[in-house]
Amino acid sequence: MPVGGTPLLPAPALRQALGMPRLWIKDETRSPTASNKDRATALVIEDGLARGVGTITTASTGNAAVATAFGGAAAGLRAVIFVSTDCQPEKLALMTQAGAWVFQVPEGYAAAVDLSRAAASTFGWLDRNTGANPLTLEAKKTVAFEVWEQLGRRVPDLMIAPVGDGPTLVALDKGFAELVGRGLAERRPRLVGVQAEACQPLVRAWLGAAAGPAELDPAATVADGIAVVRPAIGDAVLEAVRRGGGGMVAVSDDLLLGAVATLARRAGVGAEPAGAAALAGLEPAVDRGLAARSETVVLLVTGREVKVGGAPPDLGRVAVVETLDEVERALAGGR
Ligand SMILES: Cc1ncc(COP(=O)(O)O)c(C=O)c1O
Repeated sequence: MPVGGTPLLPAPALRQALGMPRLWIKDETRSPTASNKDRATALVIEDGLARGVGTITTASTGNAAVATAFGGAAAGLRAVIFVSTDCQPEKLALMTQAGAWVFQVPEGYAAAVDLSRAAASTFGWLDRNTGANPLTLEAKKTVAFEVWEQLGRRVPDLMIAPVGDGPTLVALDKGFAELVGRGLAERRPRLVGVQAEACQPLVRAWLGAAAGPAELDPAATVADGIAVVRPAIGDAVLEAVRRGGGGMVAVSDDLLLGAVATLARRAGVGAEPAGAAALAGLEPAVDRGLAARSETVVLLVTGREVKVGGAPPDLGRVAVVETLDEVERALAGGR
């Protein structure tokens, strides 16, 4: 699939509304399946094809799964996806439409990751799990190269990004570090990571405070894409944020939904709540002295709203599982 090359939008009405003349939107909703997950999926698939692998697997909060289902279809690979039973039905429908096999794991996303990874090593499948496969970082770092290029070979002062498992933000840091390492940029931008108040393990860790149960409840936020209790590369997120002098902020669902509306109305960008988290985190970042209105700030908008009205999920391709044996039986039975 053709990935990358997404636009950097000046969004004049948004700039005016916020009093930020150098604000930009890096619009990853323009990817083939409408999220930044396509970049990682495409590179992992390239690698798998070169090695002759026939099945790709991933666990996902939703968007990586849709990207893997469509990427697999484009490449002629079987896609076997593991999601939590909370996964949005609209996203499930997209996965089965692209012919993926979908396993719902009642214990949630972390258990889905464990099963997907176990299946990859047991059956020799291509493991696209974010943070586990280093190619996901290599692919996502290209966002930093594009931003630098689109700003006329300059880095912004600050980039704000949603944080779930962490690769999106860590890859930004890696990309900018490589630009500095090659002498193409003088410094890295500050990075600010955004999580939902109801699931903010890394914001709490950043503040040096323990997260309570109400701060680790993935089902309690509209931002399903970033609702990850045990981020795959959380330590690397904190290190990347610290290195650049940035920070982490948590945002309420009200702020997330407000950001979705503002992106639509003031920028013509249709984002899902997790995808709009960077804008939701902007005012809190300004309040905390992490961002100034005069600076060059890039918001990474990572995912589009899900369109409803298509076919419902093909339940013949969806099963609830808890063990690898159940996965094997379901696939052998050709559900
Ligand atoms: C829309 C959206 N934004 C951001 C993220 C966070 O990405 P990462 O897991 O790389 O931190 C996700 C992850 O699923 C997502 O779906």
